[in-house]
Amino acid sequence: MSSQAPGPAESAAGSSYTQRFADRYDAWFGKERLTTDTVDFLVRLIGSGAALELGVGTGRIALPLARRGVRVEGVDASPDMVARLTAKPGGDGIPVTIGDFTRLPADGRTVDVVFVAGGTLFELPTQEDQLRCFRHAARLIGTDGAFVLDAIVPEVLVDPKWSKARVVRNRSEDLVVLHRLFDRAAQRYDSHYVITPADGSDDEHVHVSFRYAGVGELDLMARAAGLELRERYGNWAGSPFRDGCPYHVSVYRPGR
Ligand SMILES: C[S@@+](CC[C@H](N)C(=O)[O-])C[C@H]1O[C@@H](n2cnc3c(N)ncnc32)[C@H](O)[C@@H]1O
Repeated sequence: MSSQAPGPAESAAGSSYTQRFADRYDAWFGKERLTTDTVDFLVRLIGSGAALELGVGTGRIALPLARRGVRVEGVDASPDMVARLTAKPGGDGIPVTIGDFTRLPADGRTVDVVFVAGGTLFELPTQEDQLRCFRHAARLIGTDGAFVLDAIVPEVLVDPKWSKARVVRNRSEDLVVLHRLFDRAAQRYDSHYVITPADGSDDEHVHVSFRYAGVGELDLMARAAGLELRERYGNWAGSPFRDGCPYHVSVYRPGR
């Protein structure tokens, strides 16, 4: 079940990886352990409430959430990714709006939890887009809800040790090698994935651009949107967030 939101979503809808690789997204980028941890975390947080996923994609998270009894909706700019979601069993039962999640109409609706996962926040190309995302989330969760996001910790990942090309463990038999290239001056990085399919077909190259922000900048964007940080973990399994963690999961709520 999908509907169309007004307004363009050029950055994501025009993104070549969602158009070209939607059918292989789950196999290449879906990691079972990570997905299970993410779903468990969100089930605990959402409880009997309702949730909205920004950048719902192929439903990697939304579908198992719905199967666990959570009321969840999504928004995504890519019709190709959403087509994968709706083609899956139960996918048609998840309401999805096609559009840019930084430009959602203000219709007065609220949900208990808004979340953006899979590193999607940094796909927004500018600080202004990311700030607008926080503002939309703040409006959508009203006075009692929560906004949850996951992101890399750029100060850790710019270290050459992490920036080297490495094999990504995933659900497929294909060999997926990731190389992240940082431009520290522009506060951007590009993930280049070279995929060697197990069936012997030609290598594929997937390229995704990100605009990164450290935890301090994210927390400040949250404050500018009227939110404050309440919880921060080193991963979706809820490990403590410590010096050296390459990743974080952060929970924001309306400021007191
Ligand atoms: C990396 S995928 C993550 C999908 C899903 N959240 C997951 O974790 O599997 C990012 C998704 O966000 C969508 N997206 C990126 N920027 C967007 C925007 N501004 N508005 C709507 N969707 C966007 C892309 O189309 C893509 O489906």
